[in-house]
Amino acid sequence: MSNDGVNAGRRRFLVAATSVVGAAGAAGAAIPFLGSWAPSAKAKAAGAPVRVNVGKIEPGQQIVAEWRGQPVFVLHRTPEIMQGLKKIEAQLADPESKESEQPAYVNPEERSIKPELLFVLGVCTHLGCAPTFRPEVAPADLGPDWVGGYFCACHGSRYDLAGRVYKAQPAPLNLPVPPHSYESDNIVIIGIDEGAV
Ligand code: FES
Repeated sequence: MSNDGVNAGRRRFLVAATSVVGAAGAAGAAIPFLGSWAPSAKAKAAGAPVRVNVGKIEPGQQIVAEWRGQPVFVLHRTPEIMQGLKKIEAQLADPESKESEQPAYVNPEERSIKPELLFVLGVCTHLGCAPTFRPEVAPADLGPDWVGGYFCACHGSRYDLAGRVYKAQPAPLNLPVPPHSYESDNIVIIGIDEGAV
C-alpha cells in the first residue's frame, strides 16, 4: 500500500489527487495539488463548501476534489482540448446543456466560468459509476474519432471534456456542473454560487 498519512482512510478516488489546505493556506507552497480544507465529518455531511487551489493544476491535468461525498473532476483544459470540444458537437446528445444540470452562470457549451477550468461531478448520469478521465486522442480502445473525454466503463457511456454525453449512450444527460465560484484567481469554492459572496 502506498497511502501516506494524508490520504489514509479516504476514498480511493482521492488518493494522490488532492490534499488538505490549512485554514490559512500555510501549507500551500509545499503541496503540489491542493484540495479541500478539512471540514469536520459533520460539516462534510451537511455539504460544506470545499476550496480548491487550481493554481498548480498543469494544463491538460485533472485533479479530483470531494464535495458532499461525491468526486468533482477539476480539469485544466488546453486550447487543443477546447478545439476538440467544437469538433464533436454534432455527435452530442445535449451540446448546449439544455436538459442537463449546471448553474446559469456557466457557459452552456464549454460548461465553465473560465474556459480553461472545468468542474463536473464525476458521477455517471446512467447509474452513478465514476467515469474515467481519458484525455488521449484516438487511443486503440476508444477508436480513431476519440478526441479525449470521460469514459464510463460500467456500461460504456462516453462524455467529452466538458462532461457532455454523446448521443445514443446509456447515460441520458451531461455530467452535472456543481455550483462554484472564484474566491481569487487560484482559489475556487465548490458549493457556493458565483456572485453569492
Ligand atoms: S453507470 Fe455509467 S454507463 Fe452505466
